[in-house]
Amino acid sequence: MLNIVIFGAPGSGKGTQSELLIKNHGLKYVSTGGILRDKIKKGTPMGKLADSYISKGQLVPDDLVIPMLEDLINDNSSSNGFIFDGFPRTLAQGEALDVILSKLGKEITLVFSLEVDDDELMARLLNRGKDSGRSDDNLRVIESRLEVFHKQTAPLKTFYAKQGKLIEIKGVGTIEEIFDSIEKVITMHKEKWQK
Ligand code: AP5
Ligand code: MG
Repeated sequence: MLNIVIFGAPGSGKGTQSELLIKNHGLKYVSTGGILRDKIKKGTPMGKLADSYISKGQLVPDDLVIPMLEDLINDNSSSNGFIFDGFPRTLAQGEALDVILSKLGKEITLVFSLEVDDDELMARLLNRGKDSGRSDDNLRVIESRLEVFHKQTAPLKTFYAKQGKLIEIKGVGTIEEIFDSIEKVITMHKEKWQK
């Protein structure tokens, strides 16, 4: 079973690469940002609460996000594997994810960290902001998202490096080039996920 984390700063290409990976491997796609935006659109109480963080570029608190993820994973426990986009984002989320998966006899196979510098991230997100309709795709909020990434999320790289699961991928270049480098690593580690 293949369980992948697509890790990276806002705008690094997590969603773009996830889409291609799902097609190739038939994985259950878990995007916490996507789920939260859906709740905002529907105007649920959780959506309203989440919006107050997302529109400022801050993380939605762990005690809201982790139980949401746990339910989703348990409800899809018979899937072929998962691809996590935008989760985990804090050390507490990383630790919780390991516990949730281990209760089901599963574990994260590989973590792909998409490496893109801040200037390129800013350019991509400002460009997307022209028509994305996302409340967080504007200069002030992007700056805050990048700061939050470096302070609260980037430390997870050490967490996964210690587990021997972290693979750094150059996230600049064409979408296909980046996808190819991810696929090569997945194939190289076949023995870890093919049973
Ligand atoms: P989330 O939805 O996860 O957004 P994000 O991490 O800020 O990242 P993006 O979705 O903006 O970028 P991406 O890396 O997916 O890149 P994409 O493929 O779109 O989170 C949003 C918010 O929700 C958070 O700030 C937080 O408030 C909350 N949240 C979510 N998860 C949470 C959690 N676990 N805990 C707490 N809070 C949470 O690409 C970006 C752009 O670049 C696109 O226009 C794309 O077309 C373009 N692009 C992609 N690849 C390339 C390339 N190779 N070259 C040039 N352009 C490219
Ligand atoms: Mg995304």
